Amino acid sequence: GDVAVLVPAAGAGVRLGPGRPKALRLLAGEPLLVHAVRRLAAAPSVHSIVVAAPIAEVAGVRALLAPIAPVTVVPGGAERQASVAAALAAVPAGPEIVLVHDAARALTPPALVESVAAAVRAGHEAVIPVLPVVDTIKEVDTDEMVRGTVDRGALRAVQTPQGFRRAVLTAAHAAAVDALTDDAGLVEKQGVPVHCVPGSEHALKITRPFDLALAEHLLATAP
Ligand code: C5P
Repeated sequence: GDVAVLVPAAGAGVRLGPGRPKALRLLAGEPLLVHAVRRLAAAPSVHSIVVAAPIAEVAGVRALLAPIAPVTVVPGGAERQASVAAALAAVPAGPEIVLVHDAARALTPPALVESVAAAVRAGHEAVIPVLPVVDTIKEVDTDEMVRGTVDRGALRAVQTPQGFRRAVLTAAHAAAVDALTDDAGLVEKQGVPVHCVPGSEHALKITRPFDLALAEHLLATAP
């Protein structure tokens, strides 16, 4: 494998309701992070995995993942971007392709990991998996009054894993000033072209209780 995968998993998961940090919430009896790491480790291109865990959970996460795959676990940061930076700093020498994958996208198929990695290998410096937007999207003012309707045909919903040439991601994080919600956003600011590949509905981000119920159903019907 020529790919390192960073897994930011240090979020609290407030939108999922009260309870454990999100990556440690149970899905079919196992933490979301276990589901995510198992699928990453099943992708043939993956050489190393670095997880950013909640600071209070680093030892616990190490013990949890040891039977699943050889994984490096580091303490995460206050924001997703800081967690990614901490994981990036722990990538061993070797892999020249780095993927960043949210633990919350626990059911992401190994085939999506492979397709993102393949697009980077084929020469794209930055690659994101995307889906078309199905809802009509409106821009609103702070008082919930509609400002206008956005052309849906030109929009994409962005997933992870996002893939990068290692040097591109390292430079983007070194130059980052304000926190963004994804890594491709940092790379865009550096003027690097970002290539889209088809995403997967199975790579849904488990954010709200409804998503967890849907994920339970998906696992029960097609594990
Ligand atoms: O906050 P959001 O739901 O966008 O988080 C996406 C991913 O980033 C999750 O896997 C979460 O655990 C991770 N995260 C993190 N460190 C933070 C906040 C979020 O690793 N401080």
